[in-house]
Amino acid sequence: MKFPYTRLRRNRKSEWSRKLTNDVSINKSDFIMPIFICEGKNKKEKIDSMPGIYRYSVDNLEKVIDRISNNSIPAVAIFPLINNSKKNNKGSEALNKNNIVCNAISKIKKYNKKIGVICDVALDPYTSHGHDGLLINNEINNDETNKVLSQQALILAQAGCDIIAPSDMMDGRVKIIREILEKNKFYNTQILSYAVKYASNFYSPFRDAIGTNKTLKFDKKTYQMDYRNSYEAINEVRLDIDEGADMVMVKPALSYLDIIYKVKQDFNVPVFAYNVSGEYSLIKNGINNSLADEKIIMEVLYSMKRAGADAIVSYFANEVVEKFLQD
Ligand code: PBG
Repeated sequence: MKFPYTRLRRNRKSEWSRKLTNDVSINKSDFIMPIFICEGKNKKEKIDSMPGIYRYSVDNLEKVIDRISNNSIPAVAIFPLINNSKKNNKGSEALNKNNIVCNAISKIKKYNKKIGVICDVALDPYTSHGHDGLLINNEINNDETNKVLSQQALILAQAGCDIIAPSDMMDGRVKIIREILEKNKFYNTQILSYAVKYASNFYSPFRDAIGTNKTLKFDKKTYQMDYRNSYEAINEVRLDIDEGADMVMVKPALSYLDIIYKVKQDFNVPVFAYNVSGEYSLIKNGINNSLADEKIIMEVLYSMKRAGADAIVSYFANEVVEKFLQD
């Protein structure tokens, strides 16, 4: 293995050779595109902290779905901004079969039969305090929350949701959700568990998008993971698979590549990475202010694929397909 017999530059000599010898590749089918929705009619609202990303009212989703579908992106993830007047301590709007998420699911499923629909199970868009669970005696109560979450999951499945994605980080919720789905004959509804979700500062633009930044009373550290920990992620994933998860999410992605790698090495289930709002906005603003070239987007997404992500939830999904994956 000595020079000149080995010259590592030989394989790099041309684009066709580099393509042929690369370890990982990014395809259109590796993406999930998040969609923010809002109440009302004919709405397309700017989100100041997320340049290029909008909120749409449910009646306005056709064009959004067409773009994603034309880009051959397999699935969407829906997130709602709920009017303050519908929020309360218990997040009861989450259990309204006619809420905007349920309406959006049935609309999308009717309009486009091929696209997969993923919905969060968590109460934060619906609670007046902005937490993912029930606030009882100044604490996010785990077991009482689980009861509500399982109801929420059932309602989403009934509306036609393909993948139920609990993002709340309560203990034991995957089991309870799986049980209620089985009991109601939703045998094929997939569960994508946000098994490894850190209490991260990268969620701030998302919380603007769904209107929880202002109302959030205290941080989420009693349920989301501590970013000083890594091996605990393995426990989280193991438990969720045992409880009936079909796939798991690591979130955020970019500062947690080591975690994606560890999880992928240890488990034989699909591992998804969530390229979260703060990662999007930092990069997008860097590009918009000429501090970075837009090719940086691909470099960042490749780091997630290299770490072992099977698919990536990303606000860049449309842009990446349109700018970088045309051939
Ligand atoms: C809430 C939820 C959050 C995100 C997805 N679902 C935020 C939070 O936990 O406060 C963040 C996504 C992003 O930042 O892009 N259950």
